[in-house]
Amino acid sequence: MTPASTRKGAEAEIRALRDEIRAHDRRYYLQDSPTVSDTEYDRLMERLKGLEAAHPELDAPDSPTKRVGGAVGADFKPVKHAVAMLSLDNAYEEADIRAWDERVLKNLPKGDLPSYLVEPKIDGLSCALTYEDGAFVRAATRGDGETGEDVTANARTLRAIPLSLPAGAPKRLELRGEVYMTFADFARVNEDEARAGREPFSNPRNCAAGSLRQKDARVTASRRLRFTAHSYGVWSGEEPKSHAEFLSRCRELGIPSNTYERCATIDQVVAYYARFREELMPKLAYAVDGLVVKVDDFAQQRRLGFTARSPRWGMAFKYPAQQATSKVVAVEFSVGRTGAITPVAKVEPVFCAGVTISSVTLHNFEEIERLGVKIGDRVLIERAGEVIPKVVKVVEKGRKRGAVAPPAKCPSCGGPVAREEGLVAWRCDNPSCPAQLRRTLEHFASRPAMDIVGLGDAAVDQLVARGLVRDVADVYALKKEQLLDLELFADKKADNLLAQIQSSKERPLDRVINALGIRHVGEKTAEVLAERLDIDALLAASAADFQAVPDVGPIVAQSLHEFFSSKEGSGLIARLRKAGVKMPKPERTIAAGAPLAGMTFVFTGELTGFTREEAEEKVKSLGGKASGSVSAKTTYLVAGEAAGSKLKKAQSLGVKILTENQFRELLP
Ligand code: IVH
Repeated sequence: MTPASTRKGAEAEIRALRDEIRAHDRRYYLQDSPTVSDTEYDRLMERLKGLEAAHPELDAPDSPTKRVGGAVGADFKPVKHAVAMLSLDNAYEEADIRAWDERVLKNLPKGDLPSYLVEPKIDGLSCALTYEDGAFVRAATRGDGETGEDVTANARTLRAIPLSLPAGAPKRLELRGEVYMTFADFARVNEDEARAGREPFSNPRNCAAGSLRQKDARVTASRRLRFTAHSYGVWSGEEPKSHAEFLSRCRELGIPSNTYERCATIDQVVAYYARFREELMPKLAYAVDGLVVKVDDFAQQRRLGFTARSPRWGMAFKYPAQQATSKVVAVEFSVGRTGAITPVAKVEPVFCAGVTISSVTLHNFEEIERLGVKIGDRVLIERAGEVIPKVVKVVEKGRKRGAVAPPAKCPSCGGPVAREEGLVAWRCDNPSCPAQLRRTLEHFASRPAMDIVGLGDAAVDQLVARGLVRDVADVYALKKEQLLDLELFADKKADNLLAQIQSSKERPLDRVINALGIRHVGEKTAEVLAERLDIDALLAASAADFQAVPDVGPIVAQSLHEFFSSKEGSGLIARLRKAGVKMPKPERTIAAGAPLAGMTFVFTGELTGFTREEAEEKVKSLGGKASGSVSAKTTYLVAGEAAGSKLKKAQSLGVKILTENQFRELLP
């Protein structure tokens, strides 16, 4: 008998798994030094989910599995903050922060000198987390400071937020902190958005805010939001005596909290402000828009108190907005992988936020209209932490102004362009357009797709320019002599690339589907498809067949059908196969977790929320089996209204019986 098959064994393993997963969460979000890969982490989670489903009596509200969200609904209930969430006053210049220091000194007794703590001002959104008796019970956004929105279900999915606090935690704690996102996670989300044909988020803060206010908490969960505590509203029992003590007690409780620099004088604060911008800020993985300077000692803080809007004990010391003005000299168009055409303003080179900018995105033609921008205008440009600078507004109309119209033909291939109904993007519909081909190849070779190291932008540019590659299948026909002919490749490098191309033939089907770059089909959809259909089934499937796959809606189904049934699509697959691309079924089929793995369900009676087929499909999609008859091997009998003989049989065999609602609770 395996340990997990005894109740005691299961209990011990569940406890160990929960602890291990929590330790990984802390390493990832608190210490920033993960020790396992995402796949290994997912595997632990799957194992835990399976065990918990088999032992519902060992359920725990703070189990890491409880982070997997579901639908939240369109409305977030209002939450009145126990203590108003104020904001900080801003200082933009040295003189402002020195004036603040003088006010602080004036308002404290002579000789009672403050020590300042200086923290990064992370550019995210404020969120209040409430713990009662050590259990996470609520998360609320700041809202207008008095009343925020209840985002508990979404915040639960943030692995940076502990669901329970260790013994010794205050009976009631209302923590405040910043929810934010790293540049890398932001870029990943925007890639997914673009792949799904949606508008990208304009910066990590908007993306974090949008992710926290999702109707589907599973989306929030996928965004890897971070949290760092910077203050509190309520702390029952013995309160910390200083801000530094507050931060270190947060850490003891397993809550990520801000880093800080201690400064004895305002001169030190001013020096740190310059050093932070030059040395530290460029190395940060997330956006910071200034520093926050706080009086450390809480007794002094109380003495200083608040004005109507903000505390007197703290100040935001912001970095000047990273903006500059320049003149638009032309508007060019860049063509993306799906053919979407993005207008890009070429401006007179201008120095901003440490780099020289000469190209600025205009996003799309609606944005051009909204901004009212024309060639010759002087525009305000902003470069926040994200890489691509954007136009904020027109500051001065040009004397001779050139209107910007969508291009009449594709700037890359000269083919026709069209705008799809309901979508803002214009696109080039020529699948062999060189610009699209370059983007397509880059995507094909990218890490989550065929993962061909060495086939990056530069190599792709040369291969396309020389006409060596006309579609992704041509990659497999490349010869060493051809590579050596290109500037980029010497002997060793060419061998390496060919070896990489060779090993990419083994990539599982889900990666191949993703690599094909079918519109609206990203990594997730590719995974669910590959679990259910092999390549022949994909080629033969109708739109309705695709739509029968969970999570595939009509638009995605149509796009899949169009691709696989088209001459080009099926021809490409045939050539890839001929080249030796094997497209094996993915090894771990249910990547998002197989919570019902190893379980057999029988449904009987009338269900209200599902048809029998839907319920069975759901079970299968979660790794379980559905059977028509009850036996000793049945894990659960789900009994709907008017259940008859199967229910009796299950009772006589001692099979666990679930109501429809209990079954629903088993589902993630
Ligand atoms: S302390 C009374 N510390 O900036 C407010 N806030 O304008 C005390 N923020 O709403 C807040 N980093 O969302 C504090 N290290 C930090 C912060 C920080 C970012 C945000 C926070 C607050 C706003 C203040």
